Amino acid sequence: MSEGSFSRVGVVGLGTMGAGIAEVLARGGLAVVGVEVNQDALERGRGHLERSTGRAVKRGKLTEDAQREILGRVALTTDFADLGECDLVIEAVPERLDLKRKVFAELDKVCREDAVLATNTSSLSVTDIAVTTGRPSKIVGVHFFNPAPVMKLVEVIATVLTEPDAVARVAALVKGLGKTPVTIGDRAGFVANRLLFGYLNQAAGMLESGHATRDDIDTAMTAGAGLPMGPFTLMDLIGLDTCLEVLDAIYAESRDRRHAASPVLRELVTAGLLGRKTGRGFYSYDASGGDEPAAAAGEPPVVGIVGVGPLADALAALCDRAGASVRDSAADLAGCDLVVEAAEDTEAARALLSAAAQAAKPDAVLLVTSVGGSVIEQAMATGRPADVVGLHLPDPAGTLAEIAATVATGPDVADRAAALFAGLGLTTVRCRDRAGFIVDALRFPYLNDAAAMLGAGYADADSIDAAMTLGCGYPSGPIADLDRLGLDRAVTVLRALHAETREPALAPVPLLAEHVTAGRPLR
Ligand code: CAA
Repeated sequence: MSEGSFSRVGVVGLGTMGAGIAEVLARGGLAVVGVEVNQDALERGRGHLERSTGRAVKRGKLTEDAQREILGRVALTTDFADLGECDLVIEAVPERLDLKRKVFAELDKVCREDAVLATNTSSLSVTDIAVTTGRPSKIVGVHFFNPAPVMKLVEVIATVLTEPDAVARVAALVKGLGKTPVTIGDRAGFVANRLLFGYLNQAAGMLESGHATRDDIDTAMTAGAGLPMGPFTLMDLIGLDTCLEVLDAIYAESRDRRHAASPVLRELVTAGLLGRKTGRGFYSYDASGGDEPAAAAGEPPVVGIVGVGPLADALAALCDRAGASVRDSAADLAGCDLVVEAAEDTEAARALLSAAAQAAKPDAVLLVTSVGGSVIEQAMATGRPADVVGLHLPDPAGTLAEIAATVATGPDVADRAAALFAGLGLTTVRCRDRAGFIVDALRFPYLNDAAAMLGAGYADADSIDAAMTLGCGYPSGPIADLDRLGLDRAVTVLRALHAETREPALAPVPLLAEHVTAGRPLR
């Protein structure tokens, strides 16, 4: 009964998501009926379809004949009655419950009794939609990711009322379209958005509080965490109105302040600056682009490294690759442009840095790397806090250096530190002296949320990891990340974040602490 059991599929609403879904279905060989409210909207939908498949032709991924065939499978109409012969209809209209309910009431009237009706909602309760129809057992959620033709994940949402066969048939269809279905229950944000939006909103909060700039946060998350897009680029892609709706819906269920939309997001939406689709959001898309600040890469500096351990080794290797000379004996520090403390524990770091501060020349930049305390505490202990900045390499073998200036750091010291690290071939970003700098402050709360989801049994490790890799293009999923980065490190960073903010949701979830004590990875 399951495999290939749908042959004619309706799509209601041909905006970014609806048009993308229609394209995916038509590429999969299905007959598609696309419905819009009026002729103008219909033409915009046709435009989306033509541009998206046209791009594939231009890139040599699709022949013109194949494009014609795909477009030929999509019948466009403004008449709901044309959905009468569909065995599945996917609704993708704007995220307003009243509007969705109106669409489903219409579908209920015109669609065959055995037709399955699906919503692509990303934030509303599927159950709320189902209960107002005359066929709640045939209502499912089918949540695609933007851009739908590219992202491989589809969350299939079963409510407590949905019949198992409808869910199985939709999941089989998704598989047949070359995508990966993850079947889950009806909770706000499902898996991917629940994990993604806490992080996106926190990034907006960082901008709001002046912790770091938009560009530095985006760069940190791409260069430092390997994400395909930084949070602001991604929010602009998703649409800031959608981001706000998703956050409001998740907040209504979680009552977690981290999901209370950052004021900057609401302000942009009120101003009609919704991201790519309106030409401006966090970024502007009408300008020529290319306003990237190029970090000036100077001569490789002379680097003093004090302390021993993996970080000291990684820094020495980095200097070696960049042709910079390294001094590691106290007597030689006087000739160094920058002196990095790379000790493994805080007490040793403090002692080494104080000694280095005595030995280093007056214009040397001193860098603190230990995560065990704030930069300012250690800077004060050196007796020359104006010369001290914090340094964090989110991946010691990677290409990103985060530099944190404190309130006591001298005016051009962070600039000089950034230029010296650019001389070592690294991308640098700046932030304030707060726990986790940028990358760890953003990724560990997200990882903690994933561990909480696993602990609560909403989804298993494979589904959680698939949601983020296939839905959001992450290089690896959060459960795998936790095991790779180390559960003990996760607990340490989360405790530091919690101690600084007293935000209850930043305390490491019991599952993490339990696994650390047991010495066992999550998988
Ligand atoms: N439509 C169709 N195809 C597109 C596309 C679009 N809008 N954008 C990009 N593509 C295709 C390109 O044609 C290209 O295809 P080929 O490799 O076959 O040539 C491929 O995608 C890669 O594109 P680019 O090389 O132009 O750009 P990129 O390498 O930077 O990738 C990206 C772009 C795939 C969007 C990537 O940046 C990415 O994965 N970003 C993360 C996106 C994400 O997180 N999406 C989920 C958001 S959350 C959501 O949608 C749920 C919700 O409810 C809000």
